[in-house]
Amino acid sequence: MKVVLFITSFLFFRSQCAKILGVFPAPGYSQFILGEVLMTELAKSGHQVTVISPYRPKDEPPNYKTILTKEVIEGTSDVISLWDLESQNLLNNIMASYVFGNVITEKTLQNKEVQELLQPNEHFDLVIVEHFFDDALKGFAMHFKAPLVLFSSMGSTEWNRECMGAPMLPTINAVIYTHYTNRMRFFQRIRNLYGAIFDYLYRHYVFYPVQRKYMAQYFPSSMDFDKVLYNASLMLLNSHVTTSENILLPYNIIEIGGFHVITKPLDKEIQTFLDGATDGAILFSLGSNLHSSDLSQDTRNAIFQVFAKLKQKILWKFETDLPDKPKNLFISKWFKQRDILAHPNIKLFITHGGLLSTEEAIFNGVPMVGIPVFADQRINMARAKSNGVASVVSFSKLSEETLFEAVNETLNNPSYRNNAKRLSSMIKDRPIEPLELAMYWLEYTMRHSGMTFKPSSLYLHWFEMYMVDIACFILFNGLVVLLVIFGLMRICKSKKSDKQKKQ
Ligand SMILES: *[C@@H]1O[C@H](CO)[C@@H](O)[C@H](O)[C@H]1NC(C)=O
Ligand SMILES: *[C@@H]1O[C@H](CO)[C@@H](O)[C@H](O)[C@H]1NC(C)=O
Repeated sequence: MKVVLFITSFLFFRSQCAKILGVFPAPGYSQFILGEVLMTELAKSGHQVTVISPYRPKDEPPNYKTILTKEVIEGTSDVISLWDLESQNLLNNIMASYVFGNVITEKTLQNKEVQELLQPNEHFDLVIVEHFFDDALKGFAMHFKAPLVLFSSMGSTEWNRECMGAPMLPTINAVIYTHYTNRMRFFQRIRNLYGAIFDYLYRHYVFYPVQRKYMAQYFPSSMDFDKVLYNASLMLLNSHVTTSENILLPYNIIEIGGFHVITKPLDKEIQTFLDGATDGAILFSLGSNLHSSDLSQDTRNAIFQVFAKLKQKILWKFETDLPDKPKNLFISKWFKQRDILAHPNIKLFITHGGLLSTEEAIFNGVPMVGIPVFADQRINMARAKSNGVASVVSFSKLSEETLFEAVNETLNNPSYRNNAKRLSSMIKDRPIEPLELAMYWLEYTMRHSGMTFKPSSLYLHWFEMYMVDIACFILFNGLVVLLVIFGLMRICKSKKSDKQKKQ
């Protein structure tokens, strides 16, 4: 009896404690935070986790191992100039992501420890890959014969939808580099269609060949890139209807946006600063990829002029020293943004509009002034604006006047705060906490060995999917029928005229 008990409890333990590989290769620290929250939660529930990432957690749990790929940060630092993307056209913005992604992928795969991991006798029960222009990394799942789960720090994007079998519908899905919402006007839909087609063509004919080469070059086992590409069992999206609109999603995509917003107590210094902000406080941060210290002296002065007109205290994420800073200003290289936004005295968030920042602001009911620059920042801010929780200043038009007008309007018109509070109560009102939901689906994928019900779209060619074959068939048949009718009419006519001639 005891032996049976021992064996069953041992078996139970085995199925409870799995070996999970997380690949979060992106050089952005905020993206790492998302991976860290997910993987730490898996470690907390008893799994043995290994994470490939350019960063490691501050306090790593004992069953959490990091394979540090620092070279990704150095390798990508001057691949593209993020500030310049704001003024560039849609096509350049699309291409930049793929160029960036290729560097991330290669640097990650070249890492010595990563290569050692790929040696025989290593084993994983589940592989989670951050889907970020790095499709060759899906090879980890195939290599370890483990189910593949994709995680995206963005929402429902062109490439996320395609690889999970969600149809491409540029009429209702704005390309994420645009400043549209999903309700587009006629000419916006035309530009959006051309962006979506360009993205598809560039991805398939320029980007995938490079990724295919990396997969062949860096994985010891040979695998079929085209099969691995579409073989994810599940995709977790960092989005929610309050930040990313009501989108059409297939069964194998789960939205967990807001899962990372876990508030911890503030550091003493900042707590005191915020408690003393009797007129309220403003947080200003351009995120982890853009540095405020890179702003030109003119822009910096314009921002100072705006601050000088405000009675609120200001926290600015600024990466160098600022000797001549105004008295109401607190600067720091890094802020625990999630915790600061939760302070009741925070009245406004001036942000670059990254998705994490947007979610954290909406979660805490804080209105925003968006200064979007690249990637999905413009669309995030367009959506926040259409929800009445943000004003937007375009970076190229940033001046004392435009910034002050936006800040004053958003601070003093109560509708922004009311809308933010409304969305905040909605993002918190969920049947299950998003992090718990993510854990459920990850365990589900392991319990059922990655068995999912793939949408039938994944079994069709694009011309079948978009009914081009059916349209051609109908057109052809229609043409045949028309020709037959036309032919018959001609015969009748000639017979008639024959008769007339005879008479
Ligand atoms: C696709 O995923 C399933 C389930 O995890 C797995 O059994 C299969 O080997 C994978 N195929 C490829 C080509 O990766
Ligand atoms: C600031 O905004 C308020 C509310 O919209 C408006 O009444 C006021 O005139 C604005 N102040 C300035 C200086 O623009």
